Amino acid sequence: MPISIATKRQRACAALMQQVHAITATEGPTPSALHAIKQKLVALANKTALFPLSDFEMPIAQGRNHPLLVEDNDGCGLYLTINLPGKEAAPHDHGIWCVNAAVSGIEKHEFFRRLDDGSRPGYAQVVKTGEVVVRPGQGMAMADHDIHSTIVEGDEPAIGLALYGYALARFPAVVWFHPAFASTRASLSRRLAV
Ligand SMILES: [Fe+2]
Repeated sequence: MPISIATKRQRACAALMQQVHAITATEGPTPSALHAIKQKLVALANKTALFPLSDFEMPIAQGRNHPLLVEDNDGCGLYLTINLPGKEAAPHDHGIWCVNAAVSGIEKHEFFRRLDDGSRPGYAQVVKTGEVVVRPGQGMAMADHDIHSTIVEGDEPAIGLALYGYALARFPAVVWFHPAFASTRASLSRRLAV
């Protein structure tokens, strides 16, 4: 019996996760480890036949995450993400590392650095430090407290793979920044919910 695409995908995701743990086991989620993980994730995303759109429902609006491989407890989460044209996210800090790779479409990430010391509640100053355009064959990696914003560019949905150091259901508080108002706020942490 031929192996289904879903089974092939499952195996490829499991193989990726093994590689991710092999990389982080030796040095933790350092910048070089995250770079190596990014290259692995890009290689997986390049296998577009494993991710046919017919297997993944489109979002009704904005975006949608489809779990591909979510580890138990404090393990990693690997998702197929679909973000519709124009979907954007203001600058934010996940508190946990993240690696993305494009399957199709284009998403631009801008990166920011916080200038203030965080001592004034609700106040933050951030400055843009760079940007990465994630398109097929490309990816991006960010460390635990890097700050990024995202926007889907062009007319096509941005479909990609997203690997987080924690599953989305166990995410820390996400800190959002509003550079125009020099303000910040945090979402509730999910770390205490399970
Ligand atoms: Fe993000």
